[in-house]
Amino acid sequence: MKAKAAVLWGQGQDWSIEDLQVDPPKAGEVLVEWKVAGMCHSDDHMKTGDMVPPREAWEFMGIEDFYPIIGGHEGAGIVLEVGDGVTTLKPGDHVSASFVPSCGRCRYCLTGKQALCNNTANTFIGGMITDGTDRHFVNGKPITLMAKLGTFGSHSCVSELSLIKVDDDLPMECVALVSCGVATGWGSAVRRAETQPGDTVVVVGIGGIGINAVQGAKMAGAKRIIAVDPVEFKREKALELGATHAYASMDEAMGPLQELTWGEMADRVIMTPGVLHGEMMASAMNLAGKGSTVVVTAISPMMSNEASINLFNLAMWNKEVKGTIFGSLNPRYDIPALLSMYREGTLKLDELITNRYPLEQINQGYADMMAGKNIRGVICYD
Ligand SMILES: NC(=O)c1ccc[n+]([C@@H]2O[C@H](COP(=O)([O-])OP(=O)(O)OC[C@H]3O[C@@H](n4cnc5c(N)ncnc54)[C@H](O)[C@@H]3O)[C@@H](O)[C@H]2O)c1
Ligand SMILES: [Zn+2]
Ligand SMILES: [Zn+2]
Repeated sequence: MKAKAAVLWGQGQDWSIEDLQVDPPKAGEVLVEWKVAGMCHSDDHMKTGDMVPPREAWEFMGIEDFYPIIGGHEGAGIVLEVGDGVTTLKPGDHVSASFVPSCGRCRYCLTGKQALCNNTANTFIGGMITDGTDRHFVNGKPITLMAKLGTFGSHSCVSELSLIKVDDDLPMECVALVSCGVATGWGSAVRRAETQPGDTVVVVGIGGIGINAVQGAKMAGAKRIIAVDPVEFKREKALELGATHAYASMDEAMGPLQELTWGEMADRVIMTPGVLHGEMMASAMNLAGKGSTVVVTAISPMMSNEASINLFNLAMWNKEVKGTIFGSLNPRYDIPALLSMYREGTLKLDELITNRYPLEQINQGYADMMAGKNIRGVICYD
């Protein structure tokens, strides 16, 4: 079928709207019409090059070029057609995209760690999860899809493993938000940081991810939630959604945190800035108290290997530093669970959308994100 999509042709270039040919679904695949796509910072990392494997690795990965690529991994859509053997979905079903597939069979899925499903391998190269062949073409040439989803296209053909069925009375915008930003932020605070009632939690970077770490920390019973972001509007939004204090930088938060906690500092520090640079970890570690947990959620430039962490202090203060993908959640359980919290009013989703854009204005949407204007911007297809 004919569709349209926002494509990156190379590093540093703008998104370009192209005509897209999508082939019908084969075994285990599903054709989806996307209704809403969230504009996560991770897609922008492919433009800047922060999340692009180095050129020297391409041959080993079996690719000639990383580009062109259709962006978008946060999204909500409707199933149009299913291939042979698809059992969890049928035409007309509403779905949430999951940038981590979940097969239910690998050792990670089987042990409650679906965010680590082995089917995430090859996420940076083209071809379907099912059989490695291509279903998407621009000017007759195969094209890669971000996270094998490509929600910046009006339609795509994706593996059943990457889709989660949701109730069809839920607003599509909310279904899109929980598919990455909400899940990743909430999970970072609740599951990965294991926030406990009475904790003091610092969240650094209040975008689509960080704001949901604030919501998660609040739900887990934190007594103080300190939001850090240089943009005033972000700090205001954090205070609105559960933060108790807000500061413009980690340095600015240091003194007040010392006073508030009588020198004990934070129990959890969650790092969700747009780009995480190694030197920022020194301040993160200084905000963290004895027995604390520092969670790294934000993406760093892929080839950066340095972080400033005082190892003596790490050992003697019994601290831990943890990474997380998808907030260490299980998409097949947690996406519907988050949506049920929205239904009951405990998780705020409508409040997270600052601006809506047609696909054609995607570059404006990302400019607004970089200018700090959006908690989350979303692309709406109708
Ligand atoms: N681990 C995962 O599975 C996962 C999933 C999704 C996104 N991410 C990553 O999470 C990060 C956040 O994504 P987002 O969509 O919320 O981005 P965003 O651009 O919407 O928000 C980032 C926020 O960080 C703030 N910021 C920048 N530098 C800062 C600093 N030094 N101190 C404090 N705040 C600072 C910005 O003002 C902005 O408000 C990105 O790196 C993204 O790629 C990771
Ligand atoms: Zn994302
Ligand atoms: Zn699996």
